Amino acid sequence: MRELHPDLKQVIVSEEDIQKRIKEMAAQIEKDYANAERIILVGVLKGAFIFLADLARALSKEHVVDFIAVSSYGKSGSVAGAVRMVLDMREPIVNEHVIVVEDIVDSGHTLDYLIHTLKGRQPASLKTCALIEKKRDKLTVPVDYLGFDIPDVWVVGYGLDYAERYRTLPFVAELKPEAYQ
Ligand code: PRP
Repeated sequence: MRELHPDLKQVIVSEEDIQKRIKEMAAQIEKDYANAERIILVGVLKGAFIFLADLARALSKEHVVDFIAVSSYGKSGSVAGAVRMVLDMREPIVNEHVIVVEDIVDSGHTLDYLIHTLKGRQPASLKTCALIEKKRDKLTVPVDYLGFDIPDVWVVGYGLDYAERYRTLPFVAELKPEAYQ
């Protein structure tokens, strides 16, 4: 087995488990959207780009890939929940079946903001999909397709970064506290 980077404490979700779960999630989505003409997958940059790439390729249902980017202030500061859009989707979503694809639901503020914003654009349906969700106090946001529940620790890998590092690790791992303190 490849040795873990010294900043990492342990693997939380292995590459094998991620890939297996993505196939299951794709199969569920195909079943649920059997009667839809196509799906619009909206990846939330930057973190979701790897998960979206794998999910989209596991999906045999016709789909369009689009992206959105948001910026959140006060994650560890005082203005918790202030989310703003920094890059919008390229196509309108009126009468489309939309799935928002996130790498992680942490406080829930990003997904909550996106649900409210995209609902206002009158899609035929709007669902959410996240690879991981942290078990912690957070906003109640519906995650229709969830890969894994994980403990409330700082995780990196599979799209998730710490200061832009570790995004391309094929697994999700816990960062040692001394690496960010
Ligand atoms: C991460 C992640 C989600 C968001 C979830 O993005 O990709 O979009 O945080 O957190 P929340 O549930 O507390 O709102 P981040 O702001 O780190 O930006 P990035 O994806 O560009 O790394």
